[in-house]
Amino acid sequence: MPASIIDGKAMALSIRAELAQQALHLASRGVKPGLAVVLVGSDPASQVYVKMKRKACAEAGIESFAHDLAGDASEKTLLGLIARLNADNAVHGILVQLPLPKHIDEKKVLLAIDPAKDVDGFHPVNVGLLALGEPCFAPCTPAGIIALIESTGKKIEGANAVVLGRSNIVGKPVAAMLIKRNATVTVCHSKTADLAGEVGSADILVAAIGRPGFVKGPWIKPGAVVIDVGINRLPDGKLAGDVDFKGARERASAITPVPGGVGPMTIAMLLKNTVEAAGRSTAR
Ligand code: GUN
Repeated sequence: MPASIIDGKAMALSIRAELAQQALHLASRGVKPGLAVVLVGSDPASQVYVKMKRKACAEAGIESFAHDLAGDASEKTLLGLIARLNADNAVHGILVQLPLPKHIDEKKVLLAIDPAKDVDGFHPVNVGLLALGEPCFAPCTPAGIIALIESTGKKIEGANAVVLGRSNIVGKPVAAMLIKRNATVTVCHSKTADLAGEVGSADILVAAIGRPGFVKGPWIKPGAVVIDVGINRLPDGKLAGDVDFKGARERASAITPVPGGVGPMTIAMLLKNTVEAAGRSTAR
């Protein structure tokens, strides 16, 4: 039987509807959740992502504060903006879209964001708390991945989870979140000796390497849950994941599509973190 398809789009929509209710409730208590979305330059992919994030905010009753800086804006200008946003009580979350232009030190910028407003979960304080298994803002794509795995009913505890990719945005944090949930986790990367063999041991596979169709169907362990994080643009303009979807579907028990799997969940989790930050601000 082919794998069931995990509908990230539907799941994200239902989370967003629930968040809209929570935002409404907060607003009735005088706190309208606010997210500052900072874009530096005109990278086309970043422009698309930022537009989607701002639209999703509006639909959920979250105020989005747009800060679009020119591509040649200085690091000092960006740090000055972040300092103002940190001090602004109407701003509960701050998101600086990555990547930044080369003349700006990304680490310095992420470090400047107040960890209590770091809804991307990229500040070293939140990264550290996540590694320790302590409460924190979890980065949005990994949080979405965990929710998608949980939606299948697959038990994470005791499962062999294999993560392809060791990026700071996806691979490393999702590995930490799977360890926290008592999976046995293997993180693979470009220097891994026997990638197909590692994939074959995975009850849960998370592919985040950015290479279209890299993971072949016959590598997949029968019954595995497959989460495909890849969003790769093919020469014909279509989007493809990191996994050969058709082949993998013959062996997996559940698999995310691209598009419509992980992508929509990333935005839903960003809104969730923002509403949570706004809720916490009322408790301060
Ligand atoms: N660039 C690619 N993914 C992300 C993300 O999740 N957050 C931010 N801020 N930038 C990104």
